[in-house]
Amino acid sequence: MSNVIVTDHPLIQHKLTIMRDKNTGSKDFRELLTEITMLMGYEITRNIQLEDVEIETPVVKTTCKMVAGKKLGIVPILRAGLGMVDGLVNLIPAAKVGHVGLYRDPETLEPVEYYSKFPTDIEEREMIIVDPMLATGGSAVAAIDILKANGAKTIKLVNLVAAPEGIAEVQKYHSDVDIYVAAIDEKLNDHGYIVPGLGDAGDRIFGTK
Ligand code: URA
Repeated sequence: MSNVIVTDHPLIQHKLTIMRDKNTGSKDFRELLTEITMLMGYEITRNIQLEDVEIETPVVKTTCKMVAGKKLGIVPILRAGLGMVDGLVNLIPAAKVGHVGLYRDPETLEPVEYYSKFPTDIEEREMIIVDPMLATGGSAVAAIDILKANGAKTIKLVNLVAAPEGIAEVQKYHSDVDIYVAAIDEKLNDHGYIVPGLGDAGDRIFGTK
């Protein structure tokens, strides 16, 4: 069963509360999302491998640690996932960024892929899917399916706010994928919104309705 890691550092909780407030505008919302993603990045990257490197300080020659091993790839689910890219790229500038675009078929309500582009060496990278809201889990499951079909071997899912229903759905289909969230909310409402949530993340990031 995949691990669910709740990154509920006090600063993250504080910033998320401001994001949830309906009176917070797009500029602040975007900046807070970037800041929280950066803070979550601390946990997300906790397991990355280090290697010894020889360096010379102004005082002596010495051996220190630097990041080695698997390279990372970040994949936002369009469009709200774009709001979580900068926070991780700021932290891991060498990461490559892929994209997955999904829309919901109005009749079947199933997610349909309309765009995808990944790093060519996806098999060798640890791939990190980002999307602020894990609601029904349908998009997350589809995005993971697509990444695996394109060769991804190691995948993490990173969400700002998750509904228990969405977590259960991802765990049902992709028990190998660990899920990082800043908060697990109460439930989904009849319209598929997370409660209490923060509304439509894409609209709040981009100032649309
Ligand atoms: N997507 C959102 O942006 N918000 C929700 O509450 C659920 C899905």
